[in-house]
Amino acid sequence: MTIQRLAEDSLPYPLRTTMGRIMLHVRSSSPAKGFDGRFPARHHWTCAVPPQAIDVPPASILHVPGPPLGKISWYYIAWYDFWLRRNDKIAQWHLRYGPVICFRPGEVSFASSGLMREIYGTAGKYTKSELFENFMVYGQKPLFSIGPYWEHRKKRMLISSFYHKTSITRPVMEKWLRQNIMKLVAQIERAIVQQHGNEDKAPAKAMLDAYPLFNCFAFDNITHVLFGSKYGAKTIANDCPERKILLGIKQAQMWGPFKFNFPALAWITSKAMHVFPTGIASLLVPDTLRLCLKSEDEMASWNWNTLQTALADLDAVEDYTLLQRMLSCRAKAPETLETPYIAAELYDNINAAQETVAVGLIYLIFHLARQHSWQARIRSDLLSLNIAEDGFPAWTDIDKLSSLDAFMREALRVNPGASGRQERYIEDSKKDYNGICLPIGTRVTASTIALHQDPSVFPHPEEFRPERWLDQTPETLRQMENSFIPFGYGARICLGKALGIMELKMLAAFLLLRYEIATTPEMGDGKSGPMWQCGSIEAVPIGLKGEMIFTKLDMY
Ligand code: HEM
Repeated sequence: MTIQRLAEDSLPYPLRTTMGRIMLHVRSSSPAKGFDGRFPARHHWTCAVPPQAIDVPPASILHVPGPPLGKISWYYIAWYDFWLRRNDKIAQWHLRYGPVICFRPGEVSFASSGLMREIYGTAGKYTKSELFENFMVYGQKPLFSIGPYWEHRKKRMLISSFYHKTSITRPVMEKWLRQNIMKLVAQIERAIVQQHGNEDKAPAKAMLDAYPLFNCFAFDNITHVLFGSKYGAKTIANDCPERKILLGIKQAQMWGPFKFNFPALAWITSKAMHVFPTGIASLLVPDTLRLCLKSEDEMASWNWNTLQTALADLDAVEDYTLLQRMLSCRAKAPETLETPYIAAELYDNINAAQETVAVGLIYLIFHLARQHSWQARIRSDLLSLNIAEDGFPAWTDIDKLSSLDAFMREALRVNPGASGRQERYIEDSKKDYNGICLPIGTRVTASTIALHQDPSVFPHPEEFRPERWLDQTPETLRQMENSFIPFGYGARICLGKALGIMELKMLAAFLLLRYEIATTPEMGDGKSGPMWQCGSIEAVPIGLKGEMIFTKLDMY
């Protein structure tokens, strides 16, 4: 255990999380380390990076096609990263240089479904890169940040059945999700009353920024799954402190590339925040960065404190929660699930489920708002379903609607809710990848955007065409499915895929049955303007907002 680790253990949790991340950053950025700032495994405090993951000399990878500057300079991709254009740029390079490209010394991207399956499939057992150690918290590695295949698999097996579709879509889960949807609808109704005033003849409609609302929705949902009805957050309906934390965390998306590319500078910046009095710190550190660093710590504290409170009042935590599931696993094997690890896993689930779902929702609703004929088509399909007690169809019926399914798929194809930065390490130099050999230790990712925009699989990929998912031959559909990876693929495919899909489809269905949805001209077409999707870790809309106009329909 290092001196830093010991020192860190004596700190209170909020500070400890930041320090944990920072120590990793500092270590990974020391100039004495490898050419790209990565540290040799033997020096790493958690020893997660396997011995094979050594630095790759730039010369050993020059034979791979790709932008010449990118192959020799770390700063070339960092430049695009800084402007949040990393993913788009890599997809463009694929069109120019082919399915295997080197875009940074020691780093390669794939744009072929076969190669994607090779690196992410269970057979390959590829190790995740240390980028994911940025997601360590409380000095622990949750699932998402575990590198080696077997270590990851052991931990994943503890909770994977919890998130299985049959478990997550049980009636008890559906019930509270419907309740949260109704709370969200109540916020829209409130806005309608506020904006509609007394103008009786005007259509009952309201314009509101749906993005923060969807953030609250996703946060309340996941914290309910983790902690249950008493300790899950209630941000949709209440103007509570957690809402401010969520707002601050959104800024983290904009500052992510800064933190990942210039870790030492990020560390100094956050130090300045603690060392200098607030007045001076605000001169030195941009407001949004201060907000984001503070909010990340506040969220970690929120999770830690909520866990402690829930542990002290376990009778109030429903059996169907992830916390109860983990505690029952702990009863069988106490050493595997100590409280800090449980806390880290819960925190990581919040991170994984909050922004992704909010982004997925804002793009789904944005595309619906621009496609009125599809709204009518899906609405008419929804109206043909039986309705439940609350006046809306049941999840099992909503899930079967092919029109809604096709629309959601197309929205996730065009605007996938995650960055697609799923890096792994090459651990076998004898394999070849489309005829190209790669040295051991090369970092490799399959580009989600390049796969989703492949014209040979998705003709006219730049066009939003939900119908491409309908009435296809099984063979064409299979090809499309093979290249469609908004939730990743294989051994580390999104654990919360079933939950995410249920949240997306259910909310869209409820909103469509109540409102005609439009967007404002300021939101643009998604290819530019505030809805342009960033290439940050969570692929948020650049404007961090999504103005929608909800016009009430007569039927409800
Ligand atoms: C539309 C919503 C979502 C999208 C687009 C999405 C996307 C992804 C992607 C692409 C990965 C793979 C990362 C990799 O291979 O390295 C992933 C992993 C993960 N996701 Fe999601 N996700 C969503 C919702 C959720 C939800 C609701 C949860 C709930 C807990 C969740 C939990 C996780 C976890 C725990 C992992 C890590 C799995 C592992 O490493 O074994 N996600 N997600």
